[in-house]
Amino acid sequence: MDTKPIGVDYSELHNLDSPVNRLLRDSIWDRRDDIGQQSFTTLRYMDDLIGRLGITEDTHILDVGAGTGGPAVYIANATGCRVTGIEINEVGVQVSTSLIGNAGLSDRVKVIQGDASQLPFEDESFDMAISLNVMNVFEDKEQVMRGVYRVLRPGGTWAFLSGTFQLGPEDAAAREHLRRGYLIPQYYDSLEEYKAKLRAAGFSIDEALEFIADFWVQVSRWRDAHRKHREVLIEDVGQDTTDYHIAYFDTYVSLIEQGKAANHLIVSHRPGGGRTDTPV
Ligand SMILES: C[S@@+](CC[C@H](N)C(=O)[O-])C[C@H]1O[C@@H](n2cnc3c(N)ncnc32)[C@H](O)[C@@H]1O
Repeated sequence: MDTKPIGVDYSELHNLDSPVNRLLRDSIWDRRDDIGQQSFTTLRYMDDLIGRLGITEDTHILDVGAGTGGPAVYIANATGCRVTGIEINEVGVQVSTSLIGNAGLSDRVKVIQGDASQLPFEDESFDMAISLNVMNVFEDKEQVMRGVYRVLRPGGTWAFLSGTFQLGPEDAAAREHLRRGYLIPQYYDSLEEYKAKLRAAGFSIDEALEFIADFWVQVSRWRDAHRKHREVLIEDVGQDTTDYHIAYFDTYVSLIEQGKAANHLIVSHRPGGGRTDTPV
């Protein structure tokens, strides 16, 4: 019988080099593209983000839900910037610290353990905040956004990548499948709901960009990797969790194919600091 708890946290997944995770990760990315991300991000997303946001060595970035620190290390390496990540999971923080140390970046990159709903930082202490495939774990997204607003300097940029969902009453089964999430419960918003929450938190919206093809490829790869290694996964996390995860990714892929799920990068900024605010 399956005795392991379901959907608790990322501790097992964050152990990047465990035998089962190596099997999964090698099925999802080429080694070159595996930067220690725990998400649907690809190098293309990262490079796009870096160019689009104009990150320089003078930028201090907050990474909300830094995972195992791979994206923070990649961005810091590519730009010379400083990154402070916040991550709730202890294993994520440990693995991040080791990736940062191995990259020789301990002087300007760190990941601290904490809850992004209660940001433990001074007001106006960051130039930029990013978050990669994390926002859907928060039941109260506006609260998180208000916290980000507080710690950003006026004119500072807030850019996050997140799954967005346009679900109707006919999608009750899909919604239920997704709710249990991949490891922790998920709360789904449409792009319009995200925009409304950003405005309510005080942000001015600059851009919303959809990565269609890459997203479909990535979610399909996560699903295919789980199918391919089903037997090993059952040994590791039990049949119930394994089959639930496969069904989760199946549902996700199907919603993308129906045009009901997408991955949006939404770029906004805290008004002030000489920046021009958009009227919408
Ligand atoms: C899908 S992973 C993304 C990690 C990372 N952004 C990346 O792209 O590799 C979501 C992360 O959010 C973290 N998380 C969940 N709830 C959180 C919270 N309240 N505060 C901070 N991090 C949280 C999880 O532990 C997990 O590492």
